[in-house]
Amino acid sequence: MPHANIDVRPINPTIGAVIEGLDLTREMDEGTYADVRQALLDHLVIVIPEQHITPAQQLTFARRFGEVEPPHPVFGRVPEQPEVTVIEQDGSADAPYNDIWHTDVTFREKPAMASILHAQVLPVGGGGDTLWSSLQAPYEALSPKIRELIEDMTATHDYYMSFGEMVLAGPGGIEKLAADIIDLPPQTHPVVRTHPETGRKGLFVNRTFTKHINGLGYVERDYLLRMLCEFAEHPNYQMRHTWTKHDLVMWDNRATMHIATSNFISHRKMHRITVLGDQPYH
Ligand code: SIN
Repeated sequence: MPHANIDVRPINPTIGAVIEGLDLTREMDEGTYADVRQALLDHLVIVIPEQHITPAQQLTFARRFGEVEPPHPVFGRVPEQPEVTVIEQDGSADAPYNDIWHTDVTFREKPAMASILHAQVLPVGGGGDTLWSSLQAPYEALSPKIRELIEDMTATHDYYMSFGEMVLAGPGGIEKLAADIIDLPPQTHPVVRTHPETGRKGLFVNRTFTKHINGLGYVERDYLLRMLCEFAEHPNYQMRHTWTKHDLVMWDNRATMHIATSNFISHRKMHRITVLGDQPYH
């Protein structure tokens, strides 16, 4: 779709586009904002290179899309802008990281509408790419009998699955974990989610936070979840981004999942903001 205010170049027909002609040190006018939002809906992931912005300017950009989420319960934050999460790893093999496929914060009742990641420090010697997978394309590629089977199913998403051990081993240990579990109880979301803006359907399960599919026996619920995750992880539905410092990438968290590779040996640091979403529905 042509855009009047920006240049949008698709990365492949399934997912991803690069946007040129934006300078986020300045506020976007209405026409440009509308084009960026449309590009996000059309391509699910937008890469906006060369953005020399501060955390405050990243927040200004995020707030055009809606209210931003409160600070992340586990990750570090920028002290002056606590809504800006710091995702950081020193390159050591045992540091916890996001190298399992996930959709951000699906353990919340209303998972984020979008996430916005800005590259601060990139590993010397390369590595640390991020991959995104569409969740709509694999849903459409499932055979009709499987689509029919999962159509009305729900799944349980749980904060504890991914963060439990990490929080227990960290500052505050069991007290913090107990408080987090009370604040963030397991949530039920549809397995097939209807996109609230485009109406397109997609899968809404991921390996990091989806605990099981509801209403099935132990073996069935685990195998069906694994089958859906594995199906959606096929490279056919993906794009991969090799970061350059100051790249900003925004993704539609309602229709994608992502994974950060941990194949690097020095410092990597990103600033992430998540924009509040709505309650997923089928
Ligand atoms: C994330 O998982 O939200 C961040 C991905 C990355 O650091 O590349």
